[in-house]
Amino acid sequence: MADKISDPKQSKGKQTVTLTDNSTGKTCELPIMQGTAGPRVVDVRRLYAETGFFTYDPGFTSTGSCDSAITYIDGDEGILMHRGYAIEDLAGKSSFMEVCYLLLHGELPTKKQRSEFERTITYHTMLHEQMLNLYRGFRRDSHPMAIMVGVVGALSAFYHDSTDISDPHQRMVASHRMIAKMPTIAAMAYKYSVGQPFVYPRNDLNYAENFLYMTFAVPCEEFKVRPAVARAMDRIFILHADHEQNASTSTVRIAGSSGANPFACIAAGIASLWGPAHGGANEAVLQMLHEIGSKDKIPEFLARAKDRNDPFRLMGFGHRVYKNYDPRAAVLRESCHEVLEDLGVRDDPLLDLAMELERIALEDPYFVEKKLFPNVDFYSGIILQAMGFPTSMFTVLFALARTVGWVAQWQEMIEDPHHRISRPRQLYTGLDKRPFVPISNRG
Ligand code: SDX
Repeated sequence: MADKISDPKQSKGKQTVTLTDNSTGKTCELPIMQGTAGPRVVDVRRLYAETGFFTYDPGFTSTGSCDSAITYIDGDEGILMHRGYAIEDLAGKSSFMEVCYLLLHGELPTKKQRSEFERTITYHTMLHEQMLNLYRGFRRDSHPMAIMVGVVGALSAFYHDSTDISDPHQRMVASHRMIAKMPTIAAMAYKYSVGQPFVYPRNDLNYAENFLYMTFAVPCEEFKVRPAVARAMDRIFILHADHEQNASTSTVRIAGSSGANPFACIAAGIASLWGPAHGGANEAVLQMLHEIGSKDKIPEFLARAKDRNDPFRLMGFGHRVYKNYDPRAAVLRESCHEVLEDLGVRDDPLLDLAMELERIALEDPYFVEKKLFPNVDFYSGIILQAMGFPTSMFTVLFALARTVGWVAQWQEMIEDPHHRISRPRQLYTGLDKRPFVPISNRG
C-alpha cells in the first residue's frame, strides 16, 4: 500500500502526465494525485478547457468520481476497509451500530458515544402513523423493493424539518432517521406482503433484534429472537454497510449533487440497488440455485455462463473491483454454517449445491482467467432463506444495511465545499444537422 502522505490529495512533489495530440503536436500537462492508498489518479478537470477533449469511460471502469475517506477496496488483494478498519475485524469484533457511528463520524465510538448513538437511533425507529396508509395503496403481491422505493421517497413528505441540506444538524437528523426507520419500513413491507398486521418497534431490543421482531413476531404469541440469528443478522448488516462508489452509492451522490433532499436521494439509491447486476443479485442467486436444482446440472449451467451468446451469468460471481475473493463472501460463508447449525439445519441442499458450484467454478479456466470469484451476494441469500426471509426480501435487507453507507457518502459529498452538480458529457454518435421535413412530405 502506498506510504501515507500528509495531505492525501496532494501528490508528492509535482507529478504530472503529458498528453500529446499527435494530429497537431499540441500537449497538455495534467497533475497526478495520490491518495492514502490505491491507484494514483490523473486530474483531468482542466482537460476540456485546455484541449477541447472529453475523456470517454462508459461504465466508469477507469474513472474516479470523487475523493472519499470512508471506504477503501483493493480488488486484487481482496481488501475492504471502513475508515481504516478491516472488514474482517469489524464483522468479527464490532457491531452494526458501532459501524454506523464509524462511517458517519470517522472513528469507532467510545462507550458513552455508542450508548448515546444507540439511544438516538432507537428513538427514531417509529414511522409517522399516517405513512402506514401508503402501504395500503400497493397490491399485496407488490415486490417489497417497489414499496421501499415509494415509502422511503415519501419520507420527505413527512419529515420536512430535516430536509435543509445546508444545515449540518438537519443532515445528521435525516441520516439518523433513515438508519433508524429502514428496518421498520422493511419489516412493514414484509408484513404487508404476507397479510399480517404491522408490528411496532420495541425500545428494549437492539437494532438487529428489533428488525427480526418487527418482521417475524405476530400479536397472537410471544416472539423470542434467537441470539445466534440476531448476531448473524447484525453481521450481515455490517458486511453490506458501504462499498466505495458502487452503482447505488454513485446514484445517491449524483442525485444529491443537484441539492435534492436526502430522502429522495436514498430512494434513488434503492432503485439502483434493485438491479440484478447489483443488489438484486442475492435474490437472483437463490433463483439460479433453484433452477440448477442438483449438482449434476452444474456443468450445463457453467457452459451457459461461458457462452457469450447466452445472456445467462453465474449470479453471485464476478465483481467490477474484486479480482480476488470478495472478503465479505468469505465471512458470510462462515456465518452460513453457524446459522444453519443454530437452526438445526444439518445439511442444507442449497448450501451444498452452492459450495459445489463454487468449487467447480473456481477450478474452471474461464472463471480463473476472468478472475470471477463469489461476491457478497453468493452466500447471503442462503443464510437469509434459512432465517425465514422470502427471496423477495433479500435486496430489501441489502438496502436496509447500505442506507448508512449511502447517507455517510451523501454527507461527505455535501460537506465538500468544492462539490458541484454531477453532469457528465458524451460522445455524440447521432445524425448531423438536417432540415425539418413537414408531415406532408414524409410519405
Ligand atoms: C454487488 O460495485 C460494488 O461494489 C457492488 C457491490 C456492493 O457492495 O455495492 O459489491 C454489490 O453488486 C455485487 C455484484 C452482484 N452481481 C452479481 O453477482 C451479478 C453477476 N455478476 C456480473 O453481472 C458482473 O460480474 C458484474 C456486474 C458484477 C461486474 O460486471 P463488470 O465489471 O462490468 O464485468 P463484465 O460484465 O464486463 O464482465 C467481464 C467479463 C465478461 O466476459 P467478456 O465480455 O470479457 O468475454 O466477465 C464475464 C463477462 O461476460 N462475467 C461473467 C460473470 N461476470 C462477468 N461471466 C459469467 N458469469 C458472471 N457472473
